[in-house]
Amino acid sequence: MRRVTTDDWRDLRTLRLEALADTPIGFLETLAAAEGEPDGAWQARAARGAVGGDAFQVMAWDGDRPVANCVSFLRDGAGWLAAVYVAPAYRGKGLLGELVEHCTGWARERAASVLRLEVHEDNARAQAAYRRMGFTETGARQPYDLDPSRDELLMERPL
Ligand SMILES: CC(C)(COP(=O)(O)OP(=O)(O)OC[C@H]1O[C@@H](n2cnc3c(N)ncnc32)[C@H](O)[C@@H]1OP(=O)(O)O)[C@@H](O)C(=O)NCCC(=O)NCCS
Repeated sequence: MRRVTTDDWRDLRTLRLEALADTPIGFLETLAAAEGEPDGAWQARAARGAVGGDAFQVMAWDGDRPVANCVSFLRDGAGWLAAVYVAPAYRGKGLLGELVEHCTGWARERAASVLRLEVHEDNARAQAAYRRMGFTETGARQPYDLDPSRDELLMERPL
C-alpha cells in the first residue's frame, strides 16, 4: 500500500472501472463516462494524487493486481475522502482502515481538523464500515448527483 505515482495510471484506471461496475452508487461518475476517458485523463488523475499533486491517492496491490483505493483532498479546511474502494475478495480484512490512516496522516499534516465523506443513503455496507472507524453522521444530506431522488449523507471524524 502506497501513494500513487504518475506511472500507476493504468492500474488506477483498471481499479476505477472495476469499482464503478461493482458499486455504481458508491461514486459520482458512471462506468460509461469513465470508459470514455482518454489515457491523458487517467494520467492527469494519477498526477493529481501523486507527490506534487493537490490531492493524495493511496492504492494497495496484491502482487501486480490493484485491489484497493482511496483519495483525499482538502476543501474548506477539512480533509475529504473519495473514490473509496476495496475489491470484494479483500473486504473485511482491515484494508479500509489502513487506507484511511494514510489519508488521515496526509490531512493532519495540512492542518485539517476533521475528515469528511459523503456516502449514498442506500450504501449500508460503507456506512457500517465508516461507523466502525469512528465516523458519525452530521445530519446533513444532499441529492445524489447521478439520481437526485436519493440522497448522500455527510459523515465526519475529528482529526
Ligand atoms: C465500502 C468498503 C470500502 C468497505 O470496506 P470493507 O472491507 O467491506 O469493510 P468492512 O468489511 O471492514 O466493514 C463492512 C461493515 O459492513 C457490514 N456489512 C457487510 N455487508 C453489509 C450489508 N450488506 N449491509 C450492511 N452492512 C454490511 C459488515 O458487517 C461490517 O460491519 P462490522 O465490521 O461492524 O460488522 C467496501 O465494501 C467497498 O469497496 N464497497 C464498494 C465501493 C463503495 O461502496 N465505496 C464507498 C463509497 S462512499
